[in-house]
Order: sequence, then structure tokens, then C-alpha cells
Amino acid sequence: MYQLIDGKKISQEIKEELKEKVAIRKEEGKEICLAVIQVGSDPASSVYVGNKKKACAYIGIESLSYELPEETTQQELLKLIDKLNTDKKVNGILVQLPLPKQIDEQKVIQAIAPEKDVDGFHEKNVGALCVGSKGYVSCTPLGIIQLLKRSGVEISGKNCVVIGRSNIVGKPMALLLLRENGTVTVCHSRTQNMQEITRQADILVVAVGKPKMIDASYVKEGAVVIDVGIHRDENNKLCGDVDFEDVAPHTSAITPVPGGVGPMTIAMLMYNCVSSVE
Ligand code: GUN
Repeated sequence: MYQLIDGKKISQEIKEELKEKVAIRKEEGKEICLAVIQVGSDPASSVYVGNKKKACAYIGIESLSYELPEETTQQELLKLIDKLNTDKKVNGILVQLPLPKQIDEQKVIQAIAPEKDVDGFHEKNVGALCVGSKGYVSCTPLGIIQLLKRSGVEISGKNCVVIGRSNIVGKPMALLLLRENGTVTVCHSRTQNMQEITRQADILVVAVGKPKMIDASYVKEGAVVIDVGIHRDENNKLCGDVDFEDVAPHTSAITPVPGGVGPMTIAMLMYNCVSSVE
């Protein structure tokens, strides 16, 4: 029988720990403030942003909300970021992605002051992760490390395979697993004989963005499988990148969708916000 890795429960534990920390910081007179910017009204983004603001309220972080219209120009957005960069009250700045097509995402991310980049997307923070110095780390991969550690999964010395090479998940995930002394392989859309590689994995992290793409043929018996995807299937039911029914019986541990990786992303955003005053 496999272990179901309960991201809801683990994220709740982390939020309780952070809530206590925030209360102590408040007694010392340190308030934490996160600026959350959404451009346009993409329904999925609105849900994510709403959940982020709710999490802030829950642990005692103030959130400032900026809801800008779809037709906002890059210049207008950069001007707002500039203002927030110099605002002493603001500890963290989060620009919800994706942005409308007239705005260059990289320009915007690189405009955020690295010390306020609680998403960990700025080149300076990515570079810090790469060379092993201090900096913010992207929330989803950081949350996956916490899921593994708090579920008793040993990373050191294990074969870790990451499917996906995005800046937000795949690349930082590979670097974090390497930092934990895993032996890391990254697969992507051009990888040949992918199953041969993924079947070597003791820990398989899937971030391909395709509903139920990963079936049992990709998975070694007894592997730990982490599913980053979230989609709606043909019956409008939430599903991941992994075909859970097919894969789960072959694993030693697996994350469900929903209730696996998703809640961890927000918990680690809160972690990064709390770190901003430490
Ligand atoms: N869009 C999808 N994931 C993320 C994330 O982690 N941070 C931000 N800012 N936008 C996202």
C-alpha cells in the first residue's frame, strides 16, 4: 500500500509554525507586508491571488492588493513596481503570472528588487540558488522539498528525475534536489526514450503541464511520485499530470491532485514573506 502525501495537512502545519513566528515578530514591532499585483482578470489567476491574500490574513501578514486592467501597459506596471520597491512598508512584491501579451514578463520580474522578490524569480535569486548562497527560492519546488522531508522521504544519494524545465518549477526543482544531494536528471519535450530514464527514478517530479500524461509505464516499482500539474479532465474533475489511478499502486508514496503540491506553493510563499524580515 502506498503512502498518500498529504499536502493539505503539511501546508497547514507550516502555516501554523509561521503564524507563531509572525506573532513574535509583531511583539518586536515588525509587521510584514506583501504587495500582490494582478493584471487582468484571468479566472485561474484570480483564484490563486485570492488564496494568497487569504493565507496572508490567516498568518497575520498584511496584503496590499493591486488589481490592474487587462490593457495596462508595461510602463505603467514598471512604475508601480518602482514605487513598491522603494516603499519601506512593503517587504514582498508578487506579480501574478501569466501577464497580458503586451507586457514582457522577464522585464517585469527583473524590475522587482531582489530583496522583495518573494517568488524567487529574479536572476539574482536564481543565481544564488545555483551557487548555493542565500536568496529566495521559487515556492513550488521549495514546497516539494518540504513535502518530501516531512513525509520521511530521503533525498540524499537517490536518483531524482524531474520532467519539465520551466523557470518556475523544473529548473529550480533540479537545483534544490541537487542541493539535497540527489542525483538529478531533467527530462523535457525533446528527451528521447523518456520512460527508460524515468523508470530509473527513486523520486519522480512531474511538471509537464499535460493532463494524465504519466502512466505506470514511466514509473519504477516503489518510486515516490510528485505531481505538479493541475487540470480539469473530460468530466470536469481536477486531475494532475500523472494518471493517479494507474500509477499510485506502483509507488511507495504519491501526491494527490488536488491536495498535494498546490497548497504547498502558498505555504512557501508565506515562508518567503516571513523570511523577508529575518
Ligand atoms: N503563476 C503560476 N505560478 C505562479 C507563481 O508561483 N507565482 C506567480 N507570481 N505567478 C504564478
